[in-house]
Amino acid sequence: MAGFREYKIGTRIFALAFGGSMCITLLLPSINIASVSSTDIALSKQLSAGHETGFNLDDPLLQGWNKPLVVALKADPKSGQPLAEAQTVYVYQKGTSFPAGILHPRILGAGIEELSVQQGHIGDAKKDVGAVFTVSKGVFDGKPHSFIENLSTTKGWTPADVLRVAKDEDVSHTGKGKTMFVREGCWWCHTLLPEQTQDWQVFGAPPMLGDFNGESPTAFGSDRKAPDLMHVGSRNSSKEWMMMHFFNPRLVQPHSIMPRFDYLWGEKDADGKAINFAQWRTEYDEYREGKRVTAPDVPSYAKDSEIRGLIDFMLSLK
Ligand code: HEC
Repeated sequence: MAGFREYKIGTRIFALAFGGSMCITLLLPSINIASVSSTDIALSKQLSAGHETGFNLDDPLLQGWNKPLVVALKADPKSGQPLAEAQTVYVYQKGTSFPAGILHPRILGAGIEELSVQQGHIGDAKKDVGAVFTVSKGVFDGKPHSFIENLSTTKGWTPADVLRVAKDEDVSHTGKGKTMFVREGCWWCHTLLPEQTQDWQVFGAPPMLGDFNGESPTAFGSDRKAPDLMHVGSRNSSKEWMMMHFFNPRLVQPHSIMPRFDYLWGEKDADGKAINFAQWRTEYDEYREGKRVTAPDVPSYAKDSEIRGLIDFMLSLK
């Protein structure tokens, strides 16, 4: 029986250690995440990404379906008169699911929730009609806050009104691009999270806790093998560079280990002509072997291509 006694002591010690550590984990969190208010970054980020990206029925195959559009609005959608200053609006066409902050305003944080519901009328937004949102400034309980305004209720602007006055170059497919970022596994190599170390001298300031309210997934990445991308649009705002780099990273960084993402161009270019990948490859090989002076041109991408979304997303990371 002596052996059995030792077994019981071992069980008690294990239970104490396990129970103790569970108590610490569950009962003593240092911060209640639900009490963190959204920053402006979180508000604009969730409005531009839309409903969560990952496996969901809005977009089961991660094709970038049912995502909002970010529009730099330069004219009044009703009168067509130019606006004094471009305004960023988020267009949710009919059938586009709303982000977490609109569905569950509680996660926006104190003050922001009340303003978004009472003044912003986010509760009136209907998925089967669509809606247009913006981030506005207001005061609640004597304190200034940013909040989400449903312009479809407050100004009567419909998604169709906004898209009628917007030029294609003022429309950003950021939400679709975030889906591409997740689907293509960019996060295997890149992070979206500069750390509070020397990191930020190179990659920019680390984020604040409230920058992530309503975002899912965050796509932070973990094991970094390549530059952090959280502020990549501030370092590099060139669409042409992005095009070359995604078509074949070796065009701009001769020793890059990044894979090429030329297939995100799809089958046709901006003019609707079939892209001849084989010919491009042959010409590129000739260039590498010194038989051609310049590399072949990268095809311009179609308006609704996946690469457009990805580049729009990259350039939105300021
Ligand atoms: C196998 C690892 C790997 C994968 C996967 C990968 N990258 Fe990269 N990426 C790199 C490396 C290494 C660099 C630095 C060299 C270069 O510029 O090519 C880089 C550079 C970049 C840059 C330029 C960064 C800067 O600081 O200017 C961007 C933008 C970028 N990658 C975006 C992406 C996106 C978007 C995806 C997914 C579609 C992706 N990468 C997938 C390895 C990777």
